[in-house]
Amino acid sequence: MAALGMLDSANLNGGQKLAVKYFTVAVALFGAQVLFGLLAGLQYLKPDFLYGVLDFSVNRMVHINAMVVWLLFGFIGSSYWLLEDESQHSVVGLGLGNLIFWVFTLAVAVVVVVYLFVQIGPGNDMSIWFINEGREYIEAPRWADIGIVVCVLVFFYNVAATFAKGKYTGIGGVLVLDLIALAGLYLAGMFYTPNISVDQYWWWWVIHLWVEATWEVLVGCIMAYGLIQTLGVRRKIVETWLYIEVALMFGSGILGLGHHYFWIGTPEYWFTIGGFFSALEPIPLVAMVVHSVFDSGVHKMKNSNHPALAWLIAHAFGNFFGAGVWGFMHTLPQINLYTHGTQWSASHGHLAFFGAYATIVIAFIYLALQKWRGNVWMSGGLVDNGWKWKWALGLLHVGMVGMTVALLISGYEQSQIERAIEGSTWMGYFAAQGHPWFVQGMVWRQIFGWVFAAGFVLLAWDLMTIGKRETRPIQALQAEAA
Ligand code: HEM
Ligand code: HEM
Ligand SMILES: [Fe+2]
Repeated sequence: MAALGMLDSANLNGGQKLAVKYFTVAVALFGAQVLFGLLAGLQYLKPDFLYGVLDFSVNRMVHINAMVVWLLFGFIGSSYWLLEDESQHSVVGLGLGNLIFWVFTLAVAVVVVVYLFVQIGPGNDMSIWFINEGREYIEAPRWADIGIVVCVLVFFYNVAATFAKGKYTGIGGVLVLDLIALAGLYLAGMFYTPNISVDQYWWWWVIHLWVEATWEVLVGCIMAYGLIQTLGVRRKIVETWLYIEVALMFGSGILGLGHHYFWIGTPEYWFTIGGFFSALEPIPLVAMVVHSVFDSGVHKMKNSNHPALAWLIAHAFGNFFGAGVWGFMHTLPQINLYTHGTQWSASHGHLAFFGAYATIVIAFIYLALQKWRGNVWMSGGLVDNGWKWKWALGLLHVGMVGMTVALLISGYEQSQIERAIEGSTWMGYFAAQGHPWFVQGMVWRQIFGWVFAAGFVLLAWDLMTIGKRETRPIQALQAEAA
């Protein structure tokens, strides 16, 4: 074994070696997301900027597709990370898993290049197959869709077969069942219909049922493992919480889907179903906050990895505020009538995706780095006092909360002027877009976007260096009394 503090793959098991590859690509794509977000934001302020070279439509698409893919890479990486540890068995079919990683990464690179260079022209069968399928967040052309399904099937095989051969745990069981649902739902976003209502109806099965059901359950599993690792929480406790959260999440999130069926031409009963069930969705998110904060308190915050635990707690609060509170604000049809499709949605979308998902992937990358460097010390009193991870965490949060508030102000203004006063007319739309409060909101979004970008640079730097000059081994945790 190499000296403490050295990045050495001999410190990792097979699944973990694969996991760090996924994490590396995830961080690179996170950087791309930030870059294209900044470009799209600038185009709000200066519409001529890069017009005809890199249009807003392209920048926006790359921004949100990079997000979906980096988070998926982060989740896949996290699953491989915990796989051998949880199942006490080496990954079944690891060679295939490794191959698929390269295929997947190459396919993503090709899709991005096509996004950047070939997006203008008529839409037809050829363009659906090779250029763009045209569904927000999952615009990848059909060849890539099929490729993604194959890659995900291999990943699923690795996870399911390893748990089948190894030890069964609650975390493993929930993870396997959840992955079936997660992968299955992707199929709903793959077929073509010329009817926009039907198309949107199925598209939401992917988008909503991913982020408000299957992804939430997946991060529940990851959180459970993370709390065991960083705090030494007893398995029985985290698994009991996991089951409760899964039941509440599916109980509210599945029919909560109806909050996207208010205005797309679906039957009126969706007003009642969507309003009622989605209003219940914050409950499991409260449970997650209570769970993680309570566990940390019981352990008097004594933990083996400060940055990872800090990001896990950031996840619990970010999920609650971004998804729970910001989602709840506009989920009743009476309110959504005024807010639908305004910057209000973008405000919620940013805080939710960052708070619920970016955070927990970052937490796992810190866990991975600790072991990759030979299980070094990452508790209090780091070599350089841990200023980089603390500042990165601070800047990313100030940037994100700042953007969220700026977008919310613009969204309020749109709801008031475009919808309430002008009655959703075309004139009303322009009156709202030109209003100083809207414009100022967009300026502040950009300013806080730069703060966020600075936080990202610092985070990337920290991820490359944390633990490097560390000579102390990981802080031992007291096993919790049974
Ligand atoms: C982590 C979980 C969540 C994420 C990542 C998320 C993300 C998003 C995003 C990106 C959109 C915009 C979609 C578009 O482009 O049209 C959206 C829309 C919406 N979300 Fe969430 N969301 C989450 C949870 C929730 C929850 C728990 C609620 C309700 C309590 C909620 C309520 C809504 C509503 C009502 C809309 C529609 C907005 C509109 O009419 O324009 N979301 N969400
Ligand atoms: C430098 C920071 C960022 C900037 C300047 C930025 C800017 C933007 C812009 C201009 C849009 C298009 C909005 C529109 O069509 O009106 C957008 C959309 C979006 N961004 Fe960002 N973004 C940033 C970071 C992030 C991060 C970190 C996340 C999540 C992890 C995120 C998630 C989203 C989502 C989900 C949408 C689609 C929202 C919707 O459809 O309502 N962005 N962003
Ligand atoms: Fe939703």
